[in-house]
Amino acid sequence: MSITLGQHRIEGGLFLAPMAGVTDAAFRSLCRSYGADYAVSEMLAADASLRHTRKSRQRLIFSDDDCPRAVQILGADPALLADAFDWVCDQGAQVVDFNMGCPAKKVCNVACGSALMRDEKQAAAIIEALGKVSAARAVPVTLKCRTGWDDSHTNAVTIAKMAQDAGFAMVTVHGRSRAGGYTSAVNYSTIAEVVRAVDIPVVANGDITDANRAAAVLKFTKAAALMIGRGALGRPWVFQQIRQSLETGECSPISMKQKVQTVLKHWALHHAHYDAAVATLSFRKHLLWYLADFEDFARYKAQLCSAKNSQEQYGLLVDWFSLKGWM
Ligand SMILES: Cc1cc2nc3c(=O)[nH]c(=O)nc-3n(C[C@H](O)[C@H](O)[C@H](O)COP(=O)(O)O)c2cc1C
Repeated sequence: MSITLGQHRIEGGLFLAPMAGVTDAAFRSLCRSYGADYAVSEMLAADASLRHTRKSRQRLIFSDDDCPRAVQILGADPALLADAFDWVCDQGAQVVDFNMGCPAKKVCNVACGSALMRDEKQAAAIIEALGKVSAARAVPVTLKCRTGWDDSHTNAVTIAKMAQDAGFAMVTVHGRSRAGGYTSAVNYSTIAEVVRAVDIPVVANGDITDANRAAAVLKFTKAAALMIGRGALGRPWVFQQIRQSLETGECSPISMKQKVQTVLKHWALHHAHYDAAVATLSFRKHLLWYLADFEDFARYKAQLCSAKNSQEQYGLLVDWFSLKGWM
């Protein structure tokens, strides 16, 4: 499996999904070390007035593992988005992804994200504008969308064809409508329809959490690649396990020692990425995902979550892991 995006070649078809607040350069790097073949940044608002906020600057930090450096942009206005495309390229982006899938109310209320799927005219204007700037900059543009606005308006095929005609290099389809949020059954049939309808690579996304599901989705949709989101939360090794299983039919469990090393490695990468005060707080969610099924977590949870600074958080983790003989 390999995919070509302009001058970039992605070997392998297991991608990490962009997740705002999660897939920063630290987490992307960790997932790449476990075999994720491609990862896109968290979404970045096209609005120029937001470019210099701490959040935006943080989202434009890349690691050496980001090859190519793919940045996702979000917006509703073709001219502003074209300008944002140019700007993120100046900041180092080598691929630009356009978000037409975010279901959040505050995003859809300003006609961005998945709201564009119910306004095909505006979607077409944006896609055309991004296609032009992509050609002018020689930087590939890709699209991430849902199946449609709701289940009676499934138009991913129309949107994907628009993208292909405008020169987009790849489309990812999250197999739910906006109305389906993150919990409705994933509609892999629509993903398969998109695969049949366009010649550019299509990436299948939605509820792919293990090797069985990965194999079934690949077989059913014939997608060029799979994108994994929530299945990687607290389990960055999922890429290694799925790859091993797809290639050999076997899946080695991750040892406790390796899990513990991964948590500590992530802690270090995370703290190198954020200021110490921000990092202590923002690492909590990762701890909750990693440690939920660790023995005795209930006893340590409150203490770990109340750590006042990075040293205390790290010390508590190491004490617990050592006490249990996991490191
Ligand atoms: C916390 C969180 C943040 C997300 N942020 C983004 C984002 O910034 N851009 C985007 O295109 N999708 C975003 N998504 C959607 C995911 O990329 C993915 O499409 C969705 O979670 C379905 O895949 P999954 O079932 O493997 O999780 C986000 C999802 C979650 C759970």
